[in-house]
Amino acid sequence: MRVGTLVVGRRTRRQRRAANKAERRLLHKISEEQRENKRQQKEMEDALWEGETLPAEGESGDRMGRSVIPAYVSTTRITSNKARVQYPFLAPAGRGGEGVLIGNDKFARGPFCFDPFVDYRKGLLSNTNMAVIGTIGTGKSSLMKCMALRDLVFGRRTFVPGDPKGEWDGVVQAVGGAVITLGGASGARLNPLDAGRRPSRDREEGRPVNDEQWRIMVDNQRLDLLEALISTLMKKDLLQAEKAALRVALEAASARHGGSPIIPTVTEEVFNPSTPVETLEGFRDREDLMNVGREVGFALQELTRGKLRGLFDGPSTVGFDPSAPMMSINLKNFTQGSQAMSLIMACTGSWFEASLRGDDLGQRNVVYEEAHELMAFPQLLERMRSSFKLVRAWGLRNIIALHRISDLDAVGSLGSKQRAVAEGLLSDTSTRVVYRQESDQLENTQRVLGLSDSSLEAVKNLAIGSGLWQVGKLAYLVAHRRTEWEKVMTDTDERLGKR
Ligand SMILES: Nc1ncnc2c1ncn2[C@@H]1O[C@H](COP(=O)(O)OP(=O)(O)OP(=O)(O)O)[C@@H](O)[C@H]1O
Ligand SMILES: [Mg+2]
Repeated sequence: MRVGTLVVGRRTRRQRRAANKAERRLLHKISEEQRENKRQQKEMEDALWEGETLPAEGESGDRMGRSVIPAYVSTTRITSNKARVQYPFLAPAGRGGEGVLIGNDKFARGPFCFDPFVDYRKGLLSNTNMAVIGTIGTGKSSLMKCMALRDLVFGRRTFVPGDPKGEWDGVVQAVGGAVITLGGASGARLNPLDAGRRPSRDREEGRPVNDEQWRIMVDNQRLDLLEALISTLMKKDLLQAEKAALRVALEAASARHGGSPIIPTVTEEVFNPSTPVETLEGFRDREDLMNVGREVGFALQELTRGKLRGLFDGPSTVGFDPSAPMMSINLKNFTQGSQAMSLIMACTGSWFEASLRGDDLGQRNVVYEEAHELMAFPQLLERMRSSFKLVRAWGLRNIIALHRISDLDAVGSLGSKQRAVAEGLLSDTSTRVVYRQESDQLENTQRVLGLSDSSLEAVKNLAIGSGLWQVGKLAYLVAHRRTEWEKVMTDTDERLGKR
């Protein structure tokens, strides 16, 4: 006879074996179920992907940046200072949504918005100026036009003092702006010596501007322009005596025209001064004054004769409209790359700048299209650079478009004073957008802009409309996106046939 356990509550061997077996069966069932679940999940994923191929840049639309397959990423903790250097494009945090939408940040895969005024207030930028550098047809003008259009929503207006291709007309007219066309059959005349707008306060100190200060402001603007034009035409800097003769002539011309001189009268005063020489210091006699000013006079004559005839030789027939949402000066009637074009751009630039004085007109963009036209003329560049200094106080933001950094070589050799002026113009722009560059330009671009190797690598492979944005110390790779309407407004390929 077999005797079972006498201890109450203790299981028999058979009971234990049965319990173990049940447990194993349960475990087996669970793992079967898990396997089945996994199989079903995989089947579902496969079904989801079947027939679909992911585009090279990932999904677009509202599934952008998402994946149905979970990604396992190993994480590393690192300070943002180091990360910025080690992972140049990945580290910058998103720029946030302030300012106009430009397009996509290609690395962060999010929208890229930009507002230089906000960045300036935050201390990320030392000025609001911007340079857009890229070879022909890479989308520089498109970017500037779209920024101008989108800026309107923020109440910012845009002024284009010189549009050598006349390509801004459509954009400006579409928003109810004013286009001034010079040359050709237009018959329009513009007096670059116009006084412009009297600001309510002084830009350095913020004090009200009295009559005397206003007169000095206008005189300086006129002298700066005339000296830049004359020394460009004479291909040398003016001597002190020549500057003095010019100043005397300008004062006399101004008195003759009730404070609104015109260039022919200044020329006349240089050749045939009406100012009694006894009242002037430094000149021996009238003969001496006339001799000193002779060359200056001939240079001035060039501005009202020859190719520039009829443009700047009398009172303006066109006016500046300070309330216009956009304004541009169409210069398509003049030959690109000529000295005349550069002189005209300097005159129209100065005229616009005089009209934009004051901080009570809101934030404004001043777009210098094809600024490389000025690159061969350091005096004109210097004048432009000094006008950049107005920016901070008067809420102006200058945007310059350049073809390539080697345009700077045209100004002067490395280390020369002229070259320093041109490079200084670039260093006055805290935001640089580099579009595609010719391969022989890459080294130069890297040197002048101080690009990192990885930034340079990115620049080499840029598509049209994509650029490397250097915003202060941070770099972003951005694809500029246009709406269908903007595409029509900014397309410049029409005459070449569609791409
Ligand atoms: N973001 C973009 N995406 C795709 N194509 C673009 C983009 N921007 C511009 N383009 C196309 O490139 C062409 C040239 O553009 P745009 O005139 O702006 O170039 P550009 O750099 O100003 O040229 P240029 O140096 O001759 O003035 C346009 O016709 C336009 O259709
Ligand atoms: Mg262009």
